[in-house]
Formats: sequence, structure tokens, C-alpha cells
Amino acid sequence: MSHITYTQQVGAALDRVLASTSCSQLFVLVDENTSRLVLPRIGSERLRSADVITIAAGDQHKNLDTLAQVWKALSDKGATRQSVLVGVGGGMLTDLGGLAAATFKRGIRFVNVPTTLLGAVDAAVGGKTGINFNGLKNEVGVFATASEVIISTCFFDTLPYQQLRSGYAEMIKHAMLDSHEAFMALTADAPQAVTLAQVEHSVELKRRVVDQDPHESGVRRVLNLGHTVGHAIESLALQHGRPVPHGYAVAWGLVTETVLSHLLLHFPSGDLHRLACYVRDYYGTPGITCDDYSTLLELMHHDKKSRQGEVNCTLLNHIGDPVIDNIITADAVNTALDIMRDYLD
Ligand SMILES: NC(=O)c1ccc[n+]([C@@H]2O[C@H](COP(=O)([O-])OP(=O)(O)OC[C@H]3O[C@@H](n4cnc5c(N)ncnc54)[C@H](O)[C@@H]3O)[C@@H](O)[C@H]2O)c1
Repeated sequence: MSHITYTQQVGAALDRVLASTSCSQLFVLVDENTSRLVLPRIGSERLRSADVITIAAGDQHKNLDTLAQVWKALSDKGATRQSVLVGVGGGMLTDLGGLAAATFKRGIRFVNVPTTLLGAVDAAVGGKTGINFNGLKNEVGVFATASEVIISTCFFDTLPYQQLRSGYAEMIKHAMLDSHEAFMALTADAPQAVTLAQVEHSVELKRRVVDQDPHESGVRRVLNLGHTVGHAIESLALQHGRPVPHGYAVAWGLVTETVLSHLLLHFPSGDLHRLACYVRDYYGTPGITCDDYSTLLELMHHDKKSRQGEVNCTLLNHIGDPVIDNIITADAVNTALDIMRDYLD
């Protein structure tokens, strides 16, 4: 996995990394929000002379058009194989920026500076890049490792509360894979500002898993907990032109997949109830109806773990004990969606 620096002195860390990298030309990729709210605060000497590429913000722009816009900017500005791209933004930006860097001239180096909680605890680390395509989340992408990821909490003060909750959902997922103690601690209070040490704890769980299986041929699939259903809900929302924050979809997916864990693997009902009430209180409801079930199932068949016509989920025996590759019937999915809606609606 990438080298990760945890620091509140992002500019100094970035300058150190860039000083030790032979780099012909430096590019910084920002979106319309991070260009305004984050870039001026980074405090890096090297970034001052970088070429800035700005893209539109929001997951609806994590697409081929925006990717082509980044390739074109790199090409027009004369980027070479020795150029470095620094991605400053949330998961949308680091996913797209990583893919742009990994494919431009067959691959240039890139550094991620995540600026959302979700980006810091999940998207910017682990080497998955991609764009949405054909109405499907992350349908096109490659595994490509950032040379460095610089993680800080110092840019989170401008994050809308909804964004903070979105990242917090991925931390809850990591806690459910980790230990009962971690799950109880995170769900004791409303989603709130987190410390750098909490972020590090969450990322290090991911790092331990990714290091064992960088290309997701086995154990890394534990990290998909909540995502088979979550991605389907997120794609459905995108198709309806009402995008939801990634972490909200993950929270709803976590509840549905924990219901499945309870039905199929006897996951304890007390922990399911705690999770479902927490998600109901802080993430609300996905607002789906029975009429959406067939589309959701169809979307789950497109999940990358799925073989033809199957729904494949990571489930939990109990907190801290995940099981990958559970093949789930359509009936079980429908029942779990019903129970999830009973809890959340
Ligand atoms: N590669 C992976 O392993 C992985 C893992 C999880 C999620 N993802 C992807 O990450 C994306 C979601 O990431 P996200 O939630 O960070 O969304 P995002 O990148 O779309 O950012 C959300 C919003 O916050 C704004 N923003 C960013 N930093 C800010 C700051 N410091 N202050 C104020 N506003 C700021 C952005 O401009 C945007 O409007 C999805 O596309 C998802 O598929 C990827």
C-alpha cells in the first residue's frame, strides 16, 4: 500500500515528499470547492508553482467527460512521464485523479491529499481508482497506488455536517470489522469531529487488510461490508438524478447486510438493533419502495464480487468476524430490504 503520513502540517509534509521525488512538472488537481477552501491553506512552497487543474465537484462529475478533461489539461500543459499529480479533494477527486494519473502516458506518479473524512479513512488509501460509467458506480477503473497519502484532519472544519457523517459511516464499517469495543465507542454519540488518532486507527485497519490482498482476490473483500447493497442504493439514487453521499448509502447497506447476517449467520440481534437505530437517527432513510427492489437486485448483479446472476455479500458472524463470498438469494435480499425499511422508514 502507499506510504501514509499522518500530520497536521500538510504543506511541510508535501514539500518533503516532493523534494525527495524527481519531478519534471507538478500538477495539482482540485475541485471547485477544494480550490477555494483547501488549496490556499495547504502552505506548501512547491505547490505555489504547480499547474492547477480544476474540475467540477460532485459524484455526478466522476465520469468519462471529467476524466478526459484532466487528460487534456495534462496533455496541453506538456505533462511528461516524470510529472507528478497531487490530488487535493474528497473521494470523488482522488478516485478520478488516480485513474487519470495511472492512465496518462501509461502512468505518472500521484500523491493524494484527502480533504474529506471519507477520503481520509477510505477512498484515498488502498489503491482503487475509478469513475462511474453507464449508470454504475466505479464501473471503470484500475488498481494504482499513490506514491504517498498525506492524511490530516485540519481541512475538515469547512466540511458540511452531512459530509462528516458520510465519512463516519465508513469508520463504523471499519469498527464492525475490527472489534465490539470499537463499534460501541463509535456508536456511543452522534457522528462528530474526529481526532487524527481516530482516523489513523481506522485507516490502519484498512491497511492491514489491503496489505494481505492488494487486488481484492480474497480477504480484501471484507472491506466490501455494506457496499453490495450500498452501491446499489447509491447507483439507483444517481439514476434518479438525486445523488446521495456515498457514506449514507453505505450506512443503509450496512443495516441491510447486517439484517442478512442475522438471518443467515445468527449475527446478534442486539448489535443489529443498535446499528439500525443509530443509522435511523443520523442517516435517515433511503426512501426506496418495493417497486425499486428489482432494479436494486439488477444493480447488485453488477457488483464486482458477483458472478453471473448472483448477489455476493460480505457478512458478519458477529462484530470482528467477517465472512466473505456469501451468495444471497433474491428472496433473502428482498426480505432484508423490507426489514431495513421497517427499521429506517
Ligand atoms: N477508492 C476507494 O477505495 C473508495 C472508497 C470509498 C469511497 N470511494 C468514492 O469516494 C467518493 C465519495 O467521496 P467523498 O464523500 O469524499 O465525496 P466528494 O469527493 O464528492 O466530496 C464531497 C463534497 O465535499 C467537498 N469538499 C471536499 N473537501 C472539502 C472540505 N475540506 N471542505 C468543504 N468541502 C469539501 C467536495 O467538493 C464535494 O462537494 C465516491 O465516489 C465513492 O465511490 C472510493
